[in-house]
Amino acid sequence: ESCSSSSVHVRLQQSVRNVLKPFVRDKHYLQPFQLSPETLQEVSARLRKDLLRGLGKHSHHKAPVKMLPTFVRATPDGTEKGDFLALDLGGTNFRVLHVRVEEEAQKVLKMDSQICAIPQEMMLGTGEQLFDHIATCLGDFLESHNLKCQTLPLGFTFSFPCEQLEIDKSILIRWTKGFNCSGVEGKDVVQLLKEAIQRTGDYHIGSVAMVNDTVGTMMSCGYKDQSCEIGMIIGTGTNACYMEEIKNVKRIEGEDGRMCINTEWGGFGDDGSLDDILTEFDVEVDKTSINPGVHIFEKMISGMYLGEIVRLVLVKMTKDKLLFKGQISEALGTSGRFETKFISEIEDGLENAKKILTELGLDWGLVDASVVCLVCDTISSRSAYLCAAALATLVNRIRNNRKLDHLKTTVGVDGTVYRKHPTFSSKLQKAVRLLAPQCDITFLVSEDGSGKGAAMVTAVAQRLAHQSRLLEEKTVYILTPYLQKH
Ligand code: GLC
Repeated sequence: ESCSSSSVHVRLQQSVRNVLKPFVRDKHYLQPFQLSPETLQEVSARLRKDLLRGLGKHSHHKAPVKMLPTFVRATPDGTEKGDFLALDLGGTNFRVLHVRVEEEAQKVLKMDSQICAIPQEMMLGTGEQLFDHIATCLGDFLESHNLKCQTLPLGFTFSFPCEQLEIDKSILIRWTKGFNCSGVEGKDVVQLLKEAIQRTGDYHIGSVAMVNDTVGTMMSCGYKDQSCEIGMIIGTGTNACYMEEIKNVKRIEGEDGRMCINTEWGGFGDDGSLDDILTEFDVEVDKTSINPGVHIFEKMISGMYLGEIVRLVLVKMTKDKLLFKGQISEALGTSGRFETKFISEIEDGLENAKKILTELGLDWGLVDASVVCLVCDTISSRSAYLCAAALATLVNRIRNNRKLDHLKTTVGVDGTVYRKHPTFSSKLQKAVRLLAPQCDITFLVSEDGSGKGAAMVTAVAQRLAHQSRLLEEKTVYILTPYLQKH
């Protein structure tokens, strides 16, 4: 039985109340994680203002939510085709892929792929080491799949905040999610990749398209459902992108059409705007992270941090003698040892909870297991509700942009937290409906947005380049006789 199902929930709350009543001062533990619908509305309204700051020409440089142009101006139209390479860095694993887009079958096929581990030391080493490793993995992949003699275009899913100047020029603003390689911030990532490939002296790649994972997710769903105009990730990190009217993106020239904006909503709260809802546990997680003060919203939501928040609550309860007979095991006392995937497993059933607590070396009783379940439920629910508030801001913005009473749209979603947690997606969807009642949203789980989606972005970029080349040729053709005469 799921531990968030209502009967168990009531029972849990009763056991917590009955057994722990004399000790639990709610406001010291779980109550600060429970956000009312009014608070969520307030969070959504604050993000609405921050989106505007991020889009503004003069407010942009100080804005915590960066609203980065992606140079993706169109979603797929179904005519894309060809073979592509894709690199995916910034999620759980680093991957290299060979992807085929088939026009007739309207299909994106993953031909082959390979996972390459990135050791922890490399995540904190020099940029040169990291890119050499990437180039070597790509070379090995090409070698073993007999692709070395081809020069294929490459989509590079690089899921970190980048100031994109062109589809193939992208400056890393800052590392997030546990990466901190020296000499990369402020540099063009495409250049670093190309230089590393040159250093191998061993193979060539075609044109490169830089892709954030949110954009890949939106584009991979866009091939199936052309009303997919939002991409959202709730995995190691959290973020979303959406199609914005170009006239509202004040840093970009032009009035017509739309461009996909990578919001980088993980940075929401970095200017202190969420301080009133942060708990002491959030503050602690931020303080001990490798990037304190940065990506505050992400640290309340995503997989890299949720387990640690739960661990800190459990440690405090144990120190206060409310759990495990007051005994903290070595594992529970070690940061990072309570993994986010435990939350999904524990909420999936009390039996899992018992197993995990045993593995963590804890001396537990039934009430302990139930309380742990409740702690997990409270913290994962807050994550789902905060995402819902942020997503509501985006759909409401799109609706207002288009002056519609009612918006029907599709969101492409990916990420381990969204996919693996037993009740996360349904909680999120229910809350968005409440917060954006005039929007009718379809949620599509993306099928490998960071791999196939990256190929799709590259394919669309090629289609647009090809179309504009044709247009240019036509213009030259029409103008030549005129120019010769004058
Ligand atoms: C982090 C990155 C962002 C990415 C997200 C999800 O927030 O800054 O670029 O999209 O994680 O992976």
